[in-house]
Amino acid sequence: MASTAPITVSLASALKTTRSRQRDLEQLSPFELKDYLITLAKDSQQTAVSTMLNAGRGNPNWIATEPRDAFFLLGQFAMKEARRVRDDGILAGMPPKKGCADRLRKFLSKNKGAAGADFLAGVLEYGVKIKNFVPDEWIHELTDSVIGDNYPVPPRALVHLEQILHDYLVKEMCDGRPPKGKFDLFPVEGGTAAMCYIFDSLMQNGLLKQGDTIALFLPTFTPYIEIAHLERFQFKIVAINASSVRADGTHDWHYPAAEIAKLENPKIKLAVTVNPSNPPSVAFSPIEMKQIVGLIRKNPDLVLVTDDVYGTFVPNFRSLMAEVPHNTICVYSFSKNFGCTGWRLGVIATHEKNTMDRRIAELPASWKKRLEKRYGAMTMEPEKLKFIDRLVADSRNVALNHTAGLSLPQQVQMGFFALSHLLDLKDAYKHLTMQIVRARRDALWRGLGVPLPPEDPMRGWYYVELDFMVWAKNTYGDAFCKYMTSNYEPVDFLFRLAEKSGVVLMDGGGFGGPPWSIRISLANLDDGDYSRIGKYMVDAATEYVEAWKAGQLVRSGPTAGKGQKVKASAAKRTAAGKGAAKKAARKAVKQAVKQAAKAERSARKGAK
Ligand SMILES: Cc1ncc(COP(=O)(O)O)c(C=O)c1O
Repeated sequence: MASTAPITVSLASALKTTRSRQRDLEQLSPFELKDYLITLAKDSQQTAVSTMLNAGRGNPNWIATEPRDAFFLLGQFAMKEARRVRDDGILAGMPPKKGCADRLRKFLSKNKGAAGADFLAGVLEYGVKIKNFVPDEWIHELTDSVIGDNYPVPPRALVHLEQILHDYLVKEMCDGRPPKGKFDLFPVEGGTAAMCYIFDSLMQNGLLKQGDTIALFLPTFTPYIEIAHLERFQFKIVAINASSVRADGTHDWHYPAAEIAKLENPKIKLAVTVNPSNPPSVAFSPIEMKQIVGLIRKNPDLVLVTDDVYGTFVPNFRSLMAEVPHNTICVYSFSKNFGCTGWRLGVIATHEKNTMDRRIAELPASWKKRLEKRYGAMTMEPEKLKFIDRLVADSRNVALNHTAGLSLPQQVQMGFFALSHLLDLKDAYKHLTMQIVRARRDALWRGLGVPLPPEDPMRGWYYVELDFMVWAKNTYGDAFCKYMTSNYEPVDFLFRLAEKSGVVLMDGGGFGGPPWSIRISLANLDDGDYSRIGKYMVDAATEYVEAWKAGQLVRSGPTAGKGQKVKASAAKRTAAGKGAAKKAARKAVKQAVKQAAKAERSARKGAK
């Protein structure tokens, strides 16, 4: 006769955050969820021996030195120049143009050995010898801009600096093999501003409409998923999933041909990709690229927005801007490569001949009339305004176009970052950043105690995305996977790591990746930290395995918190319920962050 004894499950030790609370918090963006995990990790830091290891952040912990040294030295030279014109002590004139390049040469020979002097000499020579710039024009653009005493003119990009940025994009985004023609550039306040401006202008110019169908290559930077759902846009999303797996079931994070083929759907007006991807940090392979190129021939109206912020971490990287230049709007950010997130430096690039301009020219008469009115005060021929110039105007509500443009000191620093790669013929800096993240990868895998995945030349290793379920299935089979899905939320592993070990990682599911996947940033901690993180991950995973193996034993840890239920299926809820849960979760995060800040303040007071 079958036993009538109640079936009990053994669970890993209970956490402070109950399963129902985890479910609520799961609704949040992984970036907000991370704040909550940080409070848990800080708590663990206060009560245990561990220090918090926050590998959730994408902010690199290195900075490029030479272009910064040169920026500050240029500032000193420019101040001298300003004082030549007028010097009332607390007030000076504007840096003069005539003879400024010669004066810079003299200044540099007097300041030989000063930090940034060699680089600045290289800047002058690159402009004069490689670009054939008129020396005074080139140097005056820099001195006047570093001082910031004029509005950006032209607003879109400074004349000489645009050419420097162009060379950088050709070298780093096109692997030195650009397509025919040139790109028009619009330097902006980071990739963040770039995306806001692009979505806005596509809508303003009738290239996208509310409710349109767009494709997102997944996983992706979470904000791009969230933007698509905003009230203003309400796009229908076609997911292009990086669902390719190796023979052993592990993800290689590439896109199967069938996924990319979804772009053949003529309803898709726009496709957005992060290349190399975030989190997996894997760039399109030549095969994937070839398929996209072929596809554009069939669907020539398709606009591709490619965010290539991690491009320099992949050897010989080639962006969509190089392969399908006419259809691509490229977003490049200097933030990660140069460790300059605080500077807010990014650039939008469109090819001089592009689909956006063609499609605008083909708009119905009613739209054309509307756009003539919109841009009519700016130019006598609004219909000839290029999409990139519309971006500039739209970024300042058109009416303020004459004071648009990125701040000039920002354009100078951006140009110097670009020049640091153009002057570095051995690519020493780029190789160093690649080495840093790869050494951390090796340390992480040492800690995990498993072999590294097979080599992939398209992989940048800025982040790692690990899928807990793939590991669970490969190591312990379906029964263990079922035990996990029945008894825990996918984010339980993250909560366990934060609470027990002070390690903060991010929820890969929130990036549109597999629900049990985890993002680890290799950019912001020291090598030794990564092997510790690997070990802590093994410890956390072992807890589940041991509890599962304990089988019929009753839970031995403290009781689950209020509201914790065992069945995962109970997670299904109505949309209204989800909204309320999200609100509650946001409140919980705010409260937890407040509490943690208070605890930190009182801990600091106590330490004084
Ligand atoms: C894919 C991607 N794009 C853009 C950004 C933000 O770039 P920026 O600092 O230039 O605004 C990030 C930051 O993490 C990112 O991961």
